[in-house]
Amino acid sequence: MKIAKGIILAGGTGSRLYPLTIASNKQLLPIYDKPAVYYPLTTLMLAGIKEVLIISTPKDITALESLFGDGTAFGMTFSYKVQAEPRGLPEAFILGEEFIEQKPVAMILGDNFFHGHGLAQVIGEASDNLNGAHIFAYPVDDPSRYGVVTFDKNQKVASLEEKPAKPRSNYAVTGLYFFDGHVSEYAKQLKFSQRGETEITDLLKYYLSLKKLDVSVLGRGYVWFDVGTSKSLLDASNYVEVIQSRQGTIIASPEEVAWRMGFIEKEDFLSHVYSLPKSQYQQYLLRIDSL
Ligand code: G1P
Repeated sequence: MKIAKGIILAGGTGSRLYPLTIASNKQLLPIYDKPAVYYPLTTLMLAGIKEVLIISTPKDITALESLFGDGTAFGMTFSYKVQAEPRGLPEAFILGEEFIEQKPVAMILGDNFFHGHGLAQVIGEASDNLNGAHIFAYPVDDPSRYGVVTFDKNQKVASLEEKPAKPRSNYAVTGLYFFDGHVSEYAKQLKFSQRGETEITDLLKYYLSLKKLDVSVLGRGYVWFDVGTSKSLLDASNYVEVIQSRQGTIIASPEEVAWRMGFIEKEDFLSHVYSLPKSQYQQYLLRIDSL
């Protein structure tokens, strides 16, 4: 059964992006021509998810609500929840307990950017075959910044560590997670780590101890960024600009994805696009209608 629900965790202080984040939420900063949070939103949409809970800080929740509204324009349902203090990523499953209703759920971090041919298929298959929890690993040059996964000889998860000083592999755990309906219950049992937060890696380790943690490797044909620093924000922006201007396509337009995924009818797509301000974005969306 496909996962129907998804959470976007768009919190955090964005301290590494200071002073960009004094008055703005990290997730609202531009990746080239769109707010950063459009990219994880469309990743969830490519997995077929229409019901989304957006979690952010008391300061930023209103801005996200004015960005996305109730989701009708994309044939989706959006709801919002405040995370009063940063108490760790797993708190999303406690704050989202009523939304989750003990059903399978995806979570994506609001600063994560995924792109690549066949991505929809990889995440769609993982969603169809969920048996506990599922993560997506990606090779990086600097694994100690991330959760790090190692594999056994059958390509199953062997170990997980959060930001290890001496990483045992160069595979980072990306910020896209699929969980079964037990996730809220398990999240409540986690202990706070030394930095005073619960850790997503501890939650994943619990699923690993139950032998219910699967992994898909996103290899060389994919791009993954977490835009937590100004360099990664620029790298992601340059990447989007290069692909879009070479191909004449647009990456991570929720309007386009909603239409292509069949979330909205063509007439609704068109009337929404006509209602947008005259912009390059609108021009592009009008052009794909004739493709
Ligand atoms: C979080 C997770 C880490 C994961 C990363 C992906 O780290 O704790 O395991 O690899 O997201 O973006 P953070 O960026 O919150 O420090």
